[in-house]
Amino acid sequence: MARKHTQFICENCGRVHAQWMGKCPDCGEWNSLVEQVVQGAAEDKHRPAIEGVPIGREDSDEILIPISKVQPDSTRRYVTGIGEFDRVLGGGIVPGSAILIGGDPGIGKSTLLLQVGHALATAGRKTIYISSEESLGQVRLRAARLGGDRSSMLAAAQSNLDIICNLLHNQRPEVVVVDSVQMVYRPDMTAAPGSVTQLRDAAARLIWLAKRLNFALLLVGHVTKEGAIAGPMILEHLVDCVAYFEGDRFHTHRLVRAVKNRFGSTDELGIFEMTDAGLLPVEDPSKLFLQNQKDSRPGSVILAACEGSRTLLVEVQALCAQSVFGAAKRKATGVDAGRVAMILAVLEKHAQCVLGDQDVFVNVVGGVRVHEPAADLAIALAVLGTLTGRALPTGVVVCGELGLGAELRPVHHQRQRLSEAARVGFRGFILPKSSSPAAKAPAGIDLFSCESLEHAIRHLG
Ligand SMILES: Nc1ncnc2c1ncn2[C@@H]1O[C@H](COP(=O)(O)OP(=O)(O)OP(=O)(O)O)[C@@H](O)[C@H]1O
Ligand SMILES: [Mg+2]
Repeated sequence: MARKHTQFICENCGRVHAQWMGKCPDCGEWNSLVEQVVQGAAEDKHRPAIEGVPIGREDSDEILIPISKVQPDSTRRYVTGIGEFDRVLGGGIVPGSAILIGGDPGIGKSTLLLQVGHALATAGRKTIYISSEESLGQVRLRAARLGGDRSSMLAAAQSNLDIICNLLHNQRPEVVVVDSVQMVYRPDMTAAPGSVTQLRDAAARLIWLAKRLNFALLLVGHVTKEGAIAGPMILEHLVDCVAYFEGDRFHTHRLVRAVKNRFGSTDELGIFEMTDAGLLPVEDPSKLFLQNQKDSRPGSVILAACEGSRTLLVEVQALCAQSVFGAAKRKATGVDAGRVAMILAVLEKHAQCVLGDQDVFVNVVGGVRVHEPAADLAIALAVLGTLTGRALPTGVVVCGELGLGAELRPVHHQRQRLSEAARVGFRGFILPKSSSPAAKAPAGIDLFSCESLEHAIRHLG
Protein backbone atom coordinates (compact mmCIF):
# COMPACT_ATOMS: atom_id res chain seq x y z
CA MET A 1 0.00 0.00 0.00
CA ALA A 2 1.15 3.47 -0.79
CA ARG A 3 1.95 5.26 2.47
CA LYS A 4 1.91 9.01 2.13
CA HIS A 5 2.65 11.68 4.64
CA THR A 6 2.90 15.44 4.55
CA GLN A 7 5.92 17.48 5.53
CA PHE A 8 6.89 21.14 5.21
CA ILE A 9 10.13 22.30 3.63
CA CYS A 10 11.66 25.71 4.09
CA GLU A 11 12.22 27.31 0.66
CA ASN A 12 15.02 29.36 2.13
CA CYS A 13 17.22 26.91 4.06
CA GLY A 14 15.86 23.55 2.85
CA ARG A 15 15.15 22.20 6.38
CA VAL A 16 12.18 19.81 6.81
CA HIS A 17 9.54 20.34 9.50
CA ALA A 18 6.65 18.12 10.57
CA GLN A 19 4.13 20.97 10.82
CA TRP A 20 3.50 24.32 9.17
CA MET A 21 4.79 27.43 10.93
CA GLY A 22 4.72 31.07 9.91
CA LYS A 23 8.43 31.43 10.52
CA CYS A 24 11.13 28.82 9.92
CA PRO A 25 12.73 28.09 13.33
CA ASP A 26 16.08 27.29 11.66
CA CYS A 27 16.69 30.28 9.41
CA GLY A 28 14.10 32.74 10.76
CA GLU A 29 12.53 33.39 7.31
CA TRP A 30 8.80 34.23 7.30
CA ASN A 31 6.30 32.38 5.07
CA SER A 32 8.98 30.15 3.59
CA LEU A 33 7.49 26.73 4.48
CA VAL A 34 5.82 24.84 1.64
CA GLU A 35 3.81 21.66 1.90
CA GLN A 36 5.11 18.48 0.33
CA VAL A 37 3.44 15.07 0.04
CA VAL A 38 5.97 12.26 0.42
CA GLN A 39 5.59 8.67 -0.73
CA GLY A 40 6.39 5.84 1.73
CA ALA A 41 10.04 4.70 1.68
CA ALA A 42 9.32 1.16 0.45
CA GLU A 43 7.66 2.48 -2.71
CA ASP A 44 10.35 4.86 -3.84
CA LYS A 45 12.73 2.95 -6.10
CA HIS A 46 15.00 5.93 -6.49
CA ARG A 47 15.32 6.86 -2.82
CA PRO A 48 18.98 7.45 -1.95
CA ALA A 49 20.67 4.40 -0.42
CA ILE A 50 21.71 6.29 2.71
CA GLU A 51 18.07 6.50 3.74
CA GLY A 52 17.32 2.91 2.78
CA VAL A 53 17.94 0.95 6.00
CA PRO A 54 15.03 0.95 8.42
CA ILE A 55 15.92 0.91 12.11
CA GLY A 56 15.66 -2.47 13.83
CA ARG A 57 15.83 -4.67 10.72
CA GLU A 58 18.08 -7.75 11.03
CA ASP A 59 19.61 -7.30 7.57
CA SER A 60 20.83 -3.81 8.47
CA ASP A 61 24.03 -5.35 9.91
CA GLU A 62 24.90 -6.72 6.46
CA ILE A 63 25.96 -3.31 5.26
CA LEU A 64 28.94 -3.40 7.64
CA ILE A 65 32.14 -4.51 5.89
CA PRO A 66 35.75 -4.37 7.16
CA ILE A 67 37.36 -1.50 5.25
CA SER A 68 40.20 -3.81 4.09
CA LYS A 69 37.66 -5.97 2.19
CA VAL A 70 36.12 -3.07 0.30
CA GLN A 71 37.01 -3.02 -3.40
CA PRO A 72 38.58 0.37 -4.09
CA ASP A 73 36.89 2.41 -6.80
CA SER A 74 39.02 2.50 -9.89
CA THR A 75 40.88 5.76 -10.41
CA ARG A 76 40.17 5.57 -14.14
CA ARG A 77 38.99 8.86 -15.58
CA TYR A 78 37.24 9.84 -18.78
CA VAL A 79 39.63 12.30 -20.38
CA THR A 80 37.65 14.72 -22.53
CA GLY A 81 40.68 16.02 -24.44
CA ILE A 82 39.55 19.59 -23.63
CA GLY A 83 42.70 20.29 -21.61
CA GLU A 84 41.41 23.19 -19.54
CA PHE A 85 38.26 21.30 -18.53
CA ASP A 86 40.24 18.16 -17.59
CA ARG A 87 42.58 20.34 -15.53
CA VAL A 88 39.68 21.85 -13.53
CA LEU A 89 38.43 18.34 -12.66
CA GLY A 90 41.89 17.09 -11.69
CA GLY A 91 42.65 15.12 -14.87
CA GLY A 92 39.26 14.09 -16.26
CA ILE A 93 35.81 12.91 -15.23
CA VAL A 94 35.60 10.09 -12.66
CA PRO A 95 32.91 7.51 -13.67
CA GLY A 96 29.97 7.53 -11.24
CA SER A 97 30.75 11.06 -10.07
CA ALA A 98 28.38 14.01 -10.09
CA ILE A 99 29.70 17.36 -11.28
CA LEU A 100 27.82 20.63 -10.97
CA ILE A 101 28.69 23.46 -13.35
CA GLY A 102 27.32 26.85 -12.32
CA GLY A 103 27.51 30.30 -13.84
CA ASP A 104 25.70 33.48 -14.82
CA PRO A 105 23.05 33.36 -17.58
CA GLY A 106 24.59 33.22 -21.05
CA ILE A 107 28.14 32.71 -19.86
CA GLY A 108 28.63 29.45 -21.76
CA LYS A 109 27.53 26.53 -19.56
CA SER A 110 25.56 24.76 -22.30
CA THR A 111 28.33 25.45 -24.82
CA LEU A 112 30.99 23.86 -22.60
CA LEU A 113 28.93 20.81 -21.71
CA LEU A 114 27.86 20.25 -25.31
CA GLN A 115 31.54 20.31 -26.30
CA VAL A 116 32.40 17.91 -23.45
CA GLY A 117 29.54 15.58 -24.41
CA HIS A 118 30.59 15.67 -28.05
CA ALA A 119 34.23 14.92 -27.16
CA LEU A 120 33.29 11.96 -24.98
CA ALA A 121 30.82 10.56 -27.54
CA THR A 122 33.49 10.84 -30.23
CA ALA A 123 35.87 8.94 -27.93
CA GLY A 124 33.33 6.09 -27.89
CA ARG A 125 31.58 6.78 -24.55
CA LYS A 126 27.82 6.41 -24.61
CA THR A 127 26.73 9.97 -23.86
CA ILE A 128 23.21 11.32 -23.34
CA TYR A 129 22.50 15.06 -23.32
CA ILE A 130 19.22 15.88 -21.59
CA SER A 131 18.01 19.38 -22.31
CA SER A 132 15.35 20.46 -19.83
CA GLU A 133 15.14 24.07 -20.90
CA GLU A 134 15.86 24.18 -24.64
CA SER A 135 14.29 22.33 -27.57
CA LEU A 136 16.32 19.75 -29.47
CA GLY A 137 16.31 22.13 -32.45
CA GLN A 138 18.12 24.76 -30.37
CA VAL A 139 20.61 22.18 -29.12
CA ARG A 140 21.27 21.06 -32.69
CA LEU A 141 21.82 24.69 -33.76
CA ARG A 142 24.45 25.14 -31.05
CA ALA A 143 26.00 21.76 -31.93
CA ALA A 144 26.27 22.85 -35.56
CA ARG A 145 28.10 26.02 -34.47
CA LEU A 146 30.50 23.95 -32.39
CA GLY A 147 31.08 21.37 -35.11
CA GLY A 148 29.57 18.60 -33.02
CA ASP A 149 26.39 18.01 -35.02
CA ARG A 150 27.75 14.81 -36.52
CA SER A 151 28.73 13.26 -33.21
CA SER A 152 27.11 10.09 -31.91
CA MET A 153 25.91 11.84 -28.75
CA LEU A 154 22.27 11.06 -27.96
CA ALA A 155 19.95 13.89 -26.96
CA ALA A 156 16.52 14.25 -25.40
CA ALA A 157 14.46 17.30 -24.52
CA GLN A 158 12.84 16.26 -21.27
CA SER A 159 12.27 17.73 -17.83
CA ASN A 160 10.10 15.04 -16.21
CA LEU A 161 12.32 13.33 -13.63
CA ASP A 162 10.48 10.00 -13.79
CA ILE A 163 10.89 9.78 -17.58
CA ILE A 164 14.57 10.80 -17.34
CA CYS A 165 15.30 8.17 -14.65
CA ASN A 166 13.55 5.43 -16.66
CA LEU A 167 15.42 6.45 -19.80
CA LEU A 168 18.78 6.30 -18.03
CA HIS A 169 17.86 2.97 -16.45
CA ASN A 170 17.07 1.44 -19.84
CA GLN A 171 19.89 3.04 -21.83
CA ARG A 172 22.79 2.46 -19.38
CA PRO A 173 24.88 5.45 -20.56
CA GLU A 174 28.44 6.20 -19.44
CA VAL A 175 28.05 9.98 -19.40
CA VAL A 176 24.90 12.06 -18.82
CA VAL A 177 24.54 15.83 -19.12
CA VAL A 178 21.45 17.47 -17.58
CA ASP A 179 21.03 21.09 -18.71
CA SER A 180 19.72 22.40 -16.33
CA VAL A 181 18.91 20.64 -13.06
CA GLN A 182 16.71 23.58 -11.99
CA MET A 183 14.14 22.78 -14.69
CA VAL A 184 13.87 19.06 -13.92
CA TYR A 185 10.74 18.34 -11.87
CA ARG A 186 9.02 15.47 -10.15
CA PRO A 187 5.41 15.36 -11.40
CA ASP A 188 3.93 13.94 -8.18
CA MET A 189 5.12 16.96 -6.18
CA THR A 190 3.00 20.06 -5.82
CA ALA A 191 6.01 22.42 -5.63
CA ALA A 192 6.95 24.29 -8.82
CA PRO A 193 10.01 23.30 -10.92
CA GLY A 194 13.09 25.13 -9.65
CA SER A 195 11.80 25.32 -6.07
CA VAL A 196 14.02 24.04 -3.29
CA THR A 197 11.93 20.92 -2.79
CA GLN A 198 11.95 19.95 -6.47
CA LEU A 199 15.60 20.79 -6.93
CA ARG A 200 16.75 18.82 -3.92
CA ASP A 201 14.76 15.77 -4.89
CA ALA A 202 15.68 15.87 -8.58
CA ALA A 203 19.38 16.26 -7.84
CA ALA A 204 19.38 13.56 -5.14
CA ARG A 205 17.66 11.04 -7.39
CA LEU A 206 19.86 11.73 -10.39
CA ILE A 207 23.02 11.51 -8.28
CA TRP A 208 21.86 8.31 -6.62
CA LEU A 209 21.17 6.81 -10.07
CA ALA A 210 24.61 7.93 -11.31
CA LYS A 211 26.30 6.11 -8.41
CA ARG A 212 24.16 3.01 -8.89
CA LEU A 213 24.56 2.73 -12.67
CA ASN A 214 28.09 4.17 -12.59
CA PHE A 215 27.64 6.94 -15.15
CA ALA A 216 29.29 10.34 -14.90
CA LEU A 217 26.65 13.00 -14.28
CA LEU A 218 27.21 16.59 -15.37
CA LEU A 219 24.59 18.99 -14.03
CA VAL A 220 24.15 22.58 -15.11
CA GLY A 221 23.05 24.88 -12.27
CA HIS A 222 21.93 28.48 -12.51
CA VAL A 223 23.31 30.99 -10.06
CA THR A 224 21.51 33.63 -8.06
CA LYS A 225 22.27 37.36 -8.14
CA GLU A 226 24.75 36.81 -5.32
CA GLY A 227 26.61 34.23 -7.42
CA ALA A 228 25.65 31.08 -5.47
CA ILE A 229 23.99 28.09 -7.15
CA ALA A 230 20.26 28.85 -7.11
CA GLY A 231 18.61 26.61 -4.52
CA PRO A 232 19.86 25.31 -1.22
CA MET A 233 23.52 24.78 -0.42
CA ILE A 234 22.56 21.12 -0.16
CA LEU A 235 23.00 20.83 -3.94
CA GLU A 236 26.69 21.63 -3.54
CA HIS A 237 26.98 19.11 -0.70
CA LEU A 238 25.36 16.35 -2.75
CA VAL A 239 27.72 16.46 -5.73
CA ASP A 240 31.38 15.41 -5.91
CA CYS A 241 32.65 18.42 -7.77
CA VAL A 242 31.43 22.01 -8.19
CA ALA A 243 32.89 24.27 -10.86
CA TYR A 244 31.84 27.87 -11.46
CA PHE A 245 32.22 30.13 -14.45
CA GLU A 246 33.93 33.23 -13.05
CA GLY A 247 34.23 36.75 -14.30
CA ASP A 248 31.66 38.21 -16.65
CA ARG A 249 30.43 37.57 -20.15
CA PHE A 250 31.62 40.95 -21.40
CA HIS A 251 35.11 39.57 -21.91
CA THR A 252 35.75 37.04 -24.64
CA HIS A 253 37.59 34.75 -22.27
CA ARG A 254 35.87 32.62 -19.66
CA LEU A 255 37.32 31.29 -16.42
CA VAL A 256 36.11 28.03 -14.87
CA ARG A 257 37.17 27.32 -11.30
CA ALA A 258 36.70 24.15 -9.21
CA VAL A 259 35.42 25.22 -5.79
CA LYS A 260 34.87 21.67 -4.57
CA ASN A 261 36.46 18.47 -5.83
CA ARG A 262 36.39 15.11 -4.10
CA PHE A 263 38.83 13.68 -6.67
CA GLY A 264 41.31 16.50 -7.12
CA SER A 265 42.48 19.79 -5.73
CA THR A 266 40.17 22.77 -5.49
CA ASP A 267 40.88 26.23 -6.87
CA GLU A 268 42.07 24.77 -10.18
CA LEU A 269 41.41 27.29 -12.92
CA GLY A 270 40.53 26.59 -16.54
CA ILE A 271 40.80 29.46 -19.01
CA PHE A 272 38.82 29.49 -22.26
CA GLU A 273 38.11 31.91 -25.03
CA MET A 274 34.57 32.18 -26.41
CA THR A 275 34.71 31.99 -30.21
CA ASP A 276 32.42 31.14 -33.14
CA ALA A 277 33.58 27.55 -32.73
CA GLY A 278 32.78 27.45 -29.00
CA LEU A 279 35.04 27.60 -25.98
CA LEU A 280 38.68 27.15 -26.94
CA PRO A 281 41.37 26.51 -24.29
CA VAL A 282 43.76 29.44 -23.81
CA GLU A 283 47.31 28.15 -24.16
CA ASP A 284 49.15 31.15 -22.67
CA PRO A 285 46.93 33.02 -20.18
CA SER A 286 49.71 35.34 -18.95
CA LYS A 287 50.10 36.77 -22.47
CA LEU A 288 46.32 37.08 -22.78
CA PHE A 289 45.97 39.13 -19.57
CA LEU A 290 48.97 41.34 -20.30
CA GLN A 291 48.36 41.99 -24.00
CA ASN A 292 47.68 45.72 -23.53
CA GLN A 293 50.44 46.24 -20.97
CA LYS A 294 53.48 47.71 -22.74
CA ASP A 295 55.12 50.31 -20.46
CA SER A 296 54.64 50.55 -16.74
CA ARG A 297 52.54 53.44 -15.44
CA PRO A 298 51.49 54.72 -12.01
CA GLY A 299 48.68 52.64 -10.52
CA SER A 300 49.49 49.52 -12.53
CA VAL A 301 51.51 46.59 -11.13
CA ILE A 302 52.10 43.13 -12.60
CA LEU A 303 51.41 40.34 -10.11
CA ALA A 304 52.68 36.75 -10.38
CA ALA A 305 49.64 34.88 -9.01
CA CYS A 306 49.19 31.20 -8.25
CA GLU A 307 45.71 29.81 -8.84
CA GLY A 308 45.53 26.08 -8.13
CA SER A 309 48.45 24.45 -9.87
CA ARG A 310 48.77 27.26 -12.40
CA THR A 311 50.88 30.40 -12.27
CA LEU A 312 49.77 33.41 -14.26
CA LEU A 313 50.75 37.02 -14.55
CA VAL A 314 47.95 39.53 -14.14
CA GLU A 315 47.77 43.30 -14.01
CA VAL A 316 46.53 44.88 -10.77
CA GLN A 317 45.27 48.44 -11.25
CA ALA A 318 44.37 51.06 -8.68
CA LEU A 319 42.88 54.52 -8.92
CA CYS A 320 42.59 57.12 -6.17
CA ALA A 321 40.33 60.10 -6.79
CA GLN A 322 39.28 62.96 -4.54
CA SER A 323 36.03 61.97 -2.86
CA VAL A 324 33.14 64.30 -3.69
CA PHE A 325 30.74 63.19 -0.99
CA GLY A 326 31.43 62.73 2.70
CA ALA A 327 32.24 59.02 2.89
CA ALA A 328 35.09 57.87 0.67
CA LYS A 329 34.25 54.92 -1.60
CA ARG A 330 36.27 51.70 -1.73
CA LYS A 331 35.60 49.32 -4.62
CA ALA A 332 37.49 46.10 -5.29
CA THR A 333 37.03 43.89 -8.36
CA GLY A 334 38.91 40.59 -8.60
CA VAL A 335 40.36 40.81 -5.07
CA ASP A 336 38.83 40.54 -1.61
CA ALA A 337 37.39 43.90 -0.48
CA GLY A 338 38.26 43.15 3.16
CA ARG A 339 41.87 42.56 2.21
CA VAL A 340 41.97 45.88 0.31
CA ALA A 341 40.61 47.69 3.40
CA MET A 342 43.41 46.16 5.48
CA ILE A 343 46.07 47.16 2.96
CA LEU A 344 44.75 50.74 2.89
CA ALA A 345 44.99 50.86 6.70
CA VAL A 346 48.59 49.59 6.56
CA LEU A 347 49.42 52.26 3.94
CA GLU A 348 47.92 55.00 6.12
CA LYS A 349 49.72 53.83 9.24
CA HIS A 350 53.13 52.83 7.88
CA ALA A 351 53.53 54.69 4.56
CA GLN A 352 52.08 58.04 5.66
CA CYS A 353 49.40 57.95 2.96
CA VAL A 354 46.30 60.08 3.47
CA LEU A 355 43.42 58.09 2.04
CA GLY A 356 40.50 59.30 4.17
CA ASP A 357 39.34 61.78 1.51
CA GLN A 358 40.10 59.51 -1.47
CA ASP A 359 37.82 57.14 -3.36
CA VAL A 360 39.91 54.02 -4.00
CA PHE A 361 39.23 51.57 -6.81
CA VAL A 362 41.22 48.34 -7.21
CA ASN A 363 40.78 46.07 -10.22
CA VAL A 364 42.40 42.92 -11.57
CA VAL A 365 42.36 43.26 -15.36
CA GLY A 366 40.56 40.61 -17.41
CA GLY A 367 37.95 39.45 -14.88
CA VAL A 368 40.34 37.15 -13.00
CA ARG A 369 39.75 36.68 -9.27
CA VAL A 370 42.91 36.40 -7.19
CA HIS A 371 42.17 34.79 -3.84
CA GLU A 372 45.64 34.53 -2.32
CA PRO A 373 47.22 37.09 0.04
CA ALA A 374 50.30 37.09 -2.22
CA ALA A 375 48.46 39.86 -4.12
CA ASP A 376 48.84 42.28 -1.13
CA LEU A 377 52.10 43.89 -2.22
CA ALA A 378 50.86 44.45 -5.78
CA ILE A 379 47.70 46.16 -4.45
CA ALA A 380 49.71 48.32 -2.03
CA LEU A 381 52.19 49.44 -4.73
CA ALA A 382 49.38 50.12 -7.21
CA VAL A 383 47.50 52.33 -4.69
CA LEU A 384 50.68 54.12 -3.66
CA GLY A 385 51.67 54.55 -7.31
CA THR A 386 48.40 56.19 -8.31
CA LEU A 387 48.45 58.40 -5.21
CA THR A 388 51.98 59.69 -5.79
CA GLY A 389 52.22 59.39 -9.58
CA ARG A 390 55.17 56.98 -9.36
CA ALA A 391 55.52 53.74 -11.32
CA LEU A 392 57.64 50.60 -11.03
CA PRO A 393 60.32 50.17 -13.71
CA THR A 394 59.03 48.45 -16.87
CA GLY A 395 59.40 44.66 -16.83
CA VAL A 396 59.12 44.17 -13.06
CA VAL A 397 56.81 41.61 -11.45
CA VAL A 398 55.69 41.65 -7.83
CA CYS A 399 54.33 39.25 -5.21
CA GLY A 400 54.20 39.15 -1.41
CA GLU A 401 51.87 39.05 1.55
CA LEU A 402 51.63 42.14 3.72
CA GLY A 403 51.49 41.89 7.53
CA LEU A 404 49.74 44.43 9.74
CA GLY A 405 53.15 45.83 10.74
CA ALA A 406 53.95 46.42 7.02
CA GLU A 407 56.37 43.47 7.04
CA LEU A 408 56.46 41.28 3.92
CA ARG A 409 55.69 37.61 4.42
CA PRO A 410 56.94 34.79 2.18
CA VAL A 411 54.60 33.23 -0.36
CA HIS A 412 54.37 29.65 -1.63
CA HIS A 413 55.36 28.38 -5.10
CA GLN A 414 58.05 31.05 -5.41
CA ARG A 415 60.01 29.06 -8.00
CA GLN A 416 57.00 28.65 -10.33
CA ARG A 417 56.26 32.37 -10.12
CA LEU A 418 59.83 33.22 -11.03
CA SER A 419 59.95 30.87 -14.00
CA GLU A 420 56.62 32.15 -15.32
CA ALA A 421 57.90 35.76 -15.11
CA ALA A 422 61.12 34.77 -16.91
CA ARG A 423 59.21 32.82 -19.56
CA VAL A 424 56.98 35.80 -20.42
CA GLY A 425 60.08 38.04 -20.66
CA PHE A 426 60.11 40.03 -17.41
CA ARG A 427 63.47 41.19 -16.08
CA GLY A 428 62.90 42.00 -12.40
CA PHE A 429 61.00 40.44 -9.51
CA ILE A 430 60.16 42.14 -6.20
CA LEU A 431 59.54 39.50 -3.53
CA PRO A 432 59.59 39.06 0.26
CA LYS A 433 63.09 38.55 1.64
CA SER A 434 62.64 35.37 3.64
CA SER A 435 61.47 33.40 0.61
CA SER A 436 64.54 34.29 -1.47
CA PRO A 437 67.10 31.67 -0.23
CA ALA A 438 65.00 28.82 -1.64
CA ALA A 439 64.25 30.73 -4.81
CA LYS A 440 67.06 31.06 -7.33
CA ALA A 441 66.62 33.63 -10.03
CA PRO A 442 66.22 32.19 -13.53
CA ALA A 443 68.68 33.59 -16.10
CA GLY A 444 67.95 37.17 -17.13
CA ILE A 445 65.83 38.09 -14.12
CA ASP A 446 66.96 40.25 -11.17
CA LEU A 447 65.60 39.51 -7.71
CA PHE A 448 64.75 42.43 -5.40
CA SER A 449 64.19 40.88 -1.97
CA CYS A 450 62.40 43.20 0.43
CA GLU A 451 61.84 42.83 4.16
CA SER A 452 59.06 45.35 4.41
CA LEU A 453 56.71 47.55 2.45
CA GLU A 454 59.09 50.43 3.02
CA HIS A 455 61.84 48.58 1.10
CA ALA A 456 59.49 47.70 -1.76
CA ILE A 457 58.29 51.33 -2.08
CA ARG A 458 61.85 52.39 -2.92
CA HIS A 459 61.48 50.67 -6.30
CA LEU A 460 58.72 53.10 -7.33
CA GLY A 461 60.38 55.57 -9.68
N1 LIG B 1 28.57 32.84 -32.92
C1 LIG B 1 29.07 33.11 -31.71
N2 LIG B 1 30.31 33.59 -31.57
C2 LIG B 1 30.83 33.83 -30.37
N3 LIG B 1 30.17 33.66 -29.25
C3 LIG B 1 28.92 33.20 -29.30
C4 LIG B 1 28.28 32.91 -30.53
N4 LIG B 1 27.04 32.46 -30.27
C5 LIG B 1 26.89 32.48 -28.91
N5 LIG B 1 28.02 32.92 -28.35
C6 LIG B 1 28.28 33.08 -26.91
O1 LIG B 1 27.68 32.02 -26.20
C7 LIG B 1 26.98 32.53 -25.09
C8 LIG B 1 25.77 31.66 -24.83
O2 LIG B 1 26.28 30.42 -24.41
P1 LIG B 1 25.39 29.35 -23.68
O3 LIG B 1 24.04 29.25 -24.30
O4 LIG B 1 26.22 28.12 -23.64
O5 LIG B 1 25.28 29.97 -22.22
P2 LIG B 1 24.53 29.38 -20.96
O6 LIG B 1 25.42 29.66 -19.80
O7 LIG B 1 24.14 27.97 -21.20
O8 LIG B 1 23.26 30.30 -20.89
P3 LIG B 1 21.85 30.04 -20.16
O9 LIG B 1 22.10 30.36 -18.72
O10 LIG B 1 20.94 31.00 -20.79
O11 LIG B 1 21.50 28.61 -20.40
C9 LIG B 1 26.58 33.92 -25.48
O12 LIG B 1 26.50 34.76 -24.37
C10 LIG B 1 27.71 34.34 -26.37
O13 LIG B 1 28.72 34.95 -25.55
MG1 LIG C 1 22.27 27.05 -21.23
